[in-house]
Amino acid sequence: MPEFENYIEYGLDISRANESPVRVLQDATGVGRCGVGSTVWDAGLVLAKYLDKQTQDGTLSLSGKTVLELGSGTGLVGLALAKLQPACTVILSDKSELVPLLERNISLNCAQPNTTAVCLDWCDPESGSAVGPVDMILVSDGVWASELHAPLAETLGRLAGEHTRVILAFESRNFEEEAMFVALWSQKFRFHDIKPQDQHPVMQSEDIFLFEGQRK
Ligand SMILES: C[S@@+](CC[C@H](N)C(=O)[O-])C[C@H]1O[C@@H](n2cnc3c(N)ncnc32)[C@H](O)[C@@H]1O
Repeated sequence: MPEFENYIEYGLDISRANESPVRVLQDATGVGRCGVGSTVWDAGLVLAKYLDKQTQDGTLSLSGKTVLELGSGTGLVGLALAKLQPACTVILSDKSELVPLLERNISLNCAQPNTTAVCLDWCDPESGSAVGPVDMILVSDGVWASELHAPLAETLGRLAGEHTRVILAFESRNFEEEAMFVALWSQKFRFHDIKPQDQHPVMQSEDIFLFEGQRK
């Protein structure tokens, strides 16, 4: 597909027996038309492997549930979850320019049948209105730009129901800005950090934080 001819493949192993690695095409330069979302970010790797560990431990069972990923980028996190939890429905989402890459990466994983890609722009309150109630929302590295903090917090507030679990992962780059996002988020959500000992033993970092929250 010429649109992605300069992209390279990235693979992430998951622990599920007989399951092949998650494969995504990415623009490792991150300078192409799709912007920052066309590259796999480290917080996404940490989140994907946390979901892997939870699945292996038997503490995460999403059978019959619907999971929405916001700002999916290449889709690595949501695609990993779709393989780990084949009986759940996964909706990958991002701005419109990323949807073709998400669709391409879904097909790269044998057209993962439980996974779709939609346009959901945090800055457009109408976008994503077709997405129904969801049981879980995942966001990895969604707080890297302070101008998106309010739209992201508003989107989470709009899409999360009373029982929706929200898991955020981000790499710390500017503590003051990130604290401002957390303060904004805490207006509508209660949350706790996911401790390093509960994360994947290897795929974790002292700079990458995981939080789980729910509406107040
Ligand atoms: C830093 S990247 C992280 C990508 C991916 N989650 C990962 O961990 O590899 C941030 C993502 O947020 C998306 N994004 C930026 N602004 C957005 C908006 N207004 N609405 C929805 N997604 C947005 C970008 O396109 C990009 O995919």
